[in-house]
Formats: sequence, structure tokens, C-alpha cells
Amino acid sequence: MSGPPPPPRTAPPPAPPRAQPPDLLPPGPAPVRPTVDAHIGDASALSEYTIVRRRSDRPGSGWRRAVHLVSGGLVNPGIGSAEERRQELALRVRRPLPGPRQIAVVSMKGGVGKTTVTALLGLVLAEHRGDRIIALDANPDAGTLAERLTGKTDSTVRDLLDGIGDLRSLSDVARFTTLAGRLQVLASEQDPARSEAFDRAEYERVCAVLARFYNVVVTDSGTGMVHSAMDGTLALANGLVVVGSLTIDGASRAAKTLDWLVAHGHGRMVERAVVVLSGDRTSKEIDTDLLVGHFSARCRAVVVVPHDPHLATGGRIELGALRTATSDAFLEIAALVADDFADEPVVAPRVDVLAGRPGDGA
Ligand SMILES: Nc1ncnc2c1ncn2[C@@H]1O[C@H](COP(=O)(O)OP(=O)(O)O)[C@@H](O)[C@H]1O
Ligand SMILES: [Mg+2]
Repeated sequence: MSGPPPPPRTAPPPAPPRAQPPDLLPPGPAPVRPTVDAHIGDASALSEYTIVRRRSDRPGSGWRRAVHLVSGGLVNPGIGSAEERRQELALRVRRPLPGPRQIAVVSMKGGVGKTTVTALLGLVLAEHRGDRIIALDANPDAGTLAERLTGKTDSTVRDLLDGIGDLRSLSDVARFTTLAGRLQVLASEQDPARSEAFDRAEYERVCAVLARFYNVVVTDSGTGMVHSAMDGTLALANGLVVVGSLTIDGASRAAKTLDWLVAHGHGRMVERAVVVLSGDRTSKEIDTDLLVGHFSARCRAVVVVPHDPHLATGGRIELGALRTATSDAFLEIAALVADDFADEPVVAPRVDVLAGRPGDGA
């Protein structure tokens, strides 16, 4: 690709969140959200989120930062509009949660950037939020999420399932996860012979445990929409990220993914979905505006992620190694996903962990 990468495009952000107290850890059953009026005048209206003005006028990048540093802080040119925007996005990413959330990252086509989006969405959420975030690889066949994030796949979701009856505390669960920055990562089974059995019931049991200890679970799902674990992913998801690429086949598969979801009763989730179009193989012949227009009309927001040489290697993903436009795009994606956190409280999936039977509220 030549020239500077395109800036992320999105629909305008929704209004800032109303006053709500920050969530306490670990996430318990979802509280009933009081109406906004009920908050006025009571102490819960004064949360850290609503009263602390997090904006800093200290420049964090570019020539402004250089001037600030070289002058020993004596000369402060202030922040530019790009940085101001980043601070606003970061504030949205930090939005308080009314209950545990499950974000599903899906696509009908493989190789469009689903794992990359899951990894970076998880990293950005974990970097900016104070609560617990986990990225779960729900690929029924050996997924690459943990490889891309931590390089460690010794412990997998299959091992967690084997010991699921003994998981009483966060440290019990953490025996099966690895850490990328502040993000916990749960790998998928790497042995194809064993992993075939990872199905909907097992996915639900894993999520029931994770929802007890983590505030946000970001799930990287397998390719295609018709495997058993995907049923569970969609059934439990509060938020959806549909990934496509800026190619004719990549975009048409993303559009078909939306068609499939609507046809299978997930129309509401499609309307709230964030579409990510990865510029992995961007061609100048592709009419990006037309694609963005198509998905904007069907979903809540569309973000175009530029081609990034660090991601193109297919190796370990480091936030700090991304180009600025790429990390801005992922900050935008995380902010859009978090915007939906303000919606009505969700009830944590009630699944009988030991028996693997979905409960009444599942
Ligand atoms: N924005 C991007 N720029 C460059 N390469 C990318 C980008 N997004 C994804 N890739 C690369 O494309 C390949 C496929 O991405 P991946 O996330 O594994 O797709 P999927 O999970 O949908 O199969 C990987 O090598 C990945 O690093
Ligand atoms: Mg993948």
C-alpha cells in the first residue's frame, strides 16, 4: 500500500455515559440500573468516572512532546487535536460496566484479521480499563490467539474444562491463562484431535466461569458461523464485532456474515455491531467509501484498520509496535465497543458449571 494509511472512519459516537458508579471486582450479578433521575442528588452520581477530568494538557507524542521534553517541561505547546481525540476515546474505553460483558469477534471468512482484532481489542481494553479483561480463543480447531499475544499455549481451554469443578478463585483460573500486558489470555486447544469436542455446552461452561472473575470476555471465534461453539458464542454475546477485509471477497463475506446473523435471529445484535474492515490487502481499485457506506447503513459503526507492517508479519502483537494510525483505529474500536457497555444491565450467563447445563437465565 502506498501513501499514508487512511484514518479510521466511524459513525459519530453516542452521547457520553450517564452517571454510574464504577464496577467493583469481581463482577457479581448485574445490578438493576437506576434511572438517571434517581441518581441526581445521590452520592452514586459522583463517581470517579464522572467527576475526574482525565484530560491532560501534557503532550504525549510528536513534536509537541519533543519540545516539552527538551525544555524540561518549561515549554508546553499543549496537546494537538489528534491527542485530544485520543484522550476522549480513552475516556470512552474506560466507561463503567453494569455487569460482565462478552464480546464476540466473528467472520465467515478466515484470514481477514479476526484474531488480530480480538488480540488488539483485548490489549487496548486491558491497557485503559482498571478491571479484568480476558481474551478467549474459542476456535474449535487450533486457534492462534495465544500464539499472537503471549506465545504460550501450554495451558488451554481444554485443561480449564478438565479442572472446571475446582475453580473457586481468580488464582485457580489464572493457572490456565497467560498474560499479555494486563490482558489475560486463554488459549484454544492446539491438538486438533482433542479440540474437535469443543462445543457449545463447553463454551457456555467456560464463559460461566469467566463471567464470575472477569469483567469483559473478548472471544475470538472460529471461521464460519455454523459450528457448535459459535452457537454458544452468539447466544452469550452482548456485543459483536464483525471483521472483513477491504477486498471484494472479504467485504462480501462480511456482508454475508451480517445476512446470516439476521436470518438466524441476531438482527438486534447486527444493528449494534461494530464492523472492522482490515486493510491487510488494500487495493487502490477498491471503493472504500462504498464499502464503509454499505456497512454503516447496516451496523452501528465501521472502522477501517490500515495495513500495518507489524501486523503483517503474523508474529507476536505488541501495541507499542503499531503505527500511530493503526493504534488509533484500535482505540476507536475499543471506544465503540465500550459505548455499548452503558446499555441496560445484562445478567451473567447462568450455566451449571459442573453439569454443563444452561440455566434458566442463560
Ligand atoms: N491491518 C493489518 N495489516 C497487516 N496485516 C494484517 C492486518 N490485519 C491482519 N493482518 C495479518 O493477516 C493475517 C490473517 O489475520 P488473522 O487475524 O490471523 O485472521 P483470521 O483470524 O481472521 O484468520 C495475519 O498474518 C495477520 O497478522
Ligand atoms: Mg484466527
